Amino acid sequence: MKILVIGSGGREHALVWKLARSPRVSSIVCAPGNAGIEQLARCVPIKADDVAALKAFVTAEKIDLTVVGPEAPLAAGIVDEFRKAKLRIFGPTRGAAQIEASKSFTKDLLVRHRIPTAAARSFDALKPALDYLEPHPLPLVVKADGLAQGKGVVIATTREQAVQAVRDMLERDTFGQAGRRVVIEEFLDGEELTLMAFADGKTVVPMVGAQDHKRVGDGDTGPNTGGMGAYAPAPLATPALRETVLQQVLRPTIEALSKMGSPFQGVLYAGLMIVRGQPYVLEFNARFGDPETQVVLPLLKTDLVTVLEAVVEHRLDQLPIEWHDRAAVCVVLTAGGYPGAYATGTPITGLPDASGSSEVVVFHAGTKRQDGTVVTAGGRVLGVTATGRGLAEARDRAYGQARAISFDGCHFRSDIGARAIRPTG
Ligand code: AMP
Ligand code: GLY
Repeated sequence: MKILVIGSGGREHALVWKLARSPRVSSIVCAPGNAGIEQLARCVPIKADDVAALKAFVTAEKIDLTVVGPEAPLAAGIVDEFRKAKLRIFGPTRGAAQIEASKSFTKDLLVRHRIPTAAARSFDALKPALDYLEPHPLPLVVKADGLAQGKGVVIATTREQAVQAVRDMLERDTFGQAGRRVVIEEFLDGEELTLMAFADGKTVVPMVGAQDHKRVGDGDTGPNTGGMGAYAPAPLATPALRETVLQQVLRPTIEALSKMGSPFQGVLYAGLMIVRGQPYVLEFNARFGDPETQVVLPLLKTDLVTVLEAVVEHRLDQLPIEWHDRAAVCVVLTAGGYPGAYATGTPITGLPDASGSSEVVVFHAGTKRQDGTVVTAGGRVLGVTATGRGLAEARDRAYGQARAISFDGCHFRSDIGARAIRPTG
């Protein structure tokens, strides 16, 4: 089979790496890819959201299956376009992808179907939003409605911060279109868990649980980022909790979307807050998470292409999906200054060769090749990933490799996975 993967980050490198291990895959193309991906796939300079160009490419090259990494092409309706042209593609339609693209759409769906989530209200106008804030206990969470790359969320511990956040979004347009509507919700105090699931419109099968680390600094300090690292399986996701999430969250959501005429096919990503053993939905994404994919895919035992095909062909109920009894840790190396301003074009040294060892692999996130050298090309630069028999072994391997890599300004957290690893570990 010939496969096209759309995207250019660490998630897409992990997808390409996993697909490359499938005996059923003969060649992989990635649009646009990065310096790590180009060692495993042919990279073509087509932007991830240029739906027309991607469609023309897939038709001309007779690609058998297209796999969409990021959310932008999904929200732009790439799946609808491809289906119209009878091209096989893995991902939800624009209608189903609203589960990620609009927080108010999702909140309505959750409330209507009694799926546990934080109490919330959404507002388009300033005055009602401010009136609503006034009597509410703190902290409060203020969110831009649309896609804001994880940055449109403010946890306000004072009334002034809450008012400021609402004004920034509704009045000052800080988040552009995404912030024209705000969602104000109750603060949930618990532990976060990511549970991604394969869904074929009817059947939904959860993957292993993962946790990412969103803050830039050790001990969850500093500003939010796209993700500084992840580990899986998360001990928090016991079989009992996964079953609860399946019954109370994943199945009702898939059924609700189906009833609305937008059956969800692809990866449904549930971002959950676990409060005293009970899961609450913080957000859904309509795609694989980044960096969760980098730790979940190495643990997948069943052939990935076989799973993706079962999703596209509504056959998930007939496919047992198996996992390795191992653990994985991913440490993200970022450019100095990230998530604020950072330099690009900085040479990277100490990278292992393309395929890595069987236990350590360096997924590229923001890199490119310049005159034969790999240089930085983004805020999140690399995701150093290792597996082991347990989380402690995986973590030690990942950090061993991370410390061997260097570039000017390189930063990484030193406590990825620490929460889940006992000190004696
Ligand atoms: P979101 O983009 O909605 O997932 O929010 C980004 C991050 O903000 C989450 O990963 C949480 O760490 C935090 N967050 C969002 N909503 C809440 C909430 N209701 N209570 C506590 N923390 C929240
Ligand atoms: N790790 C969060 C995300 O992929 O959005």
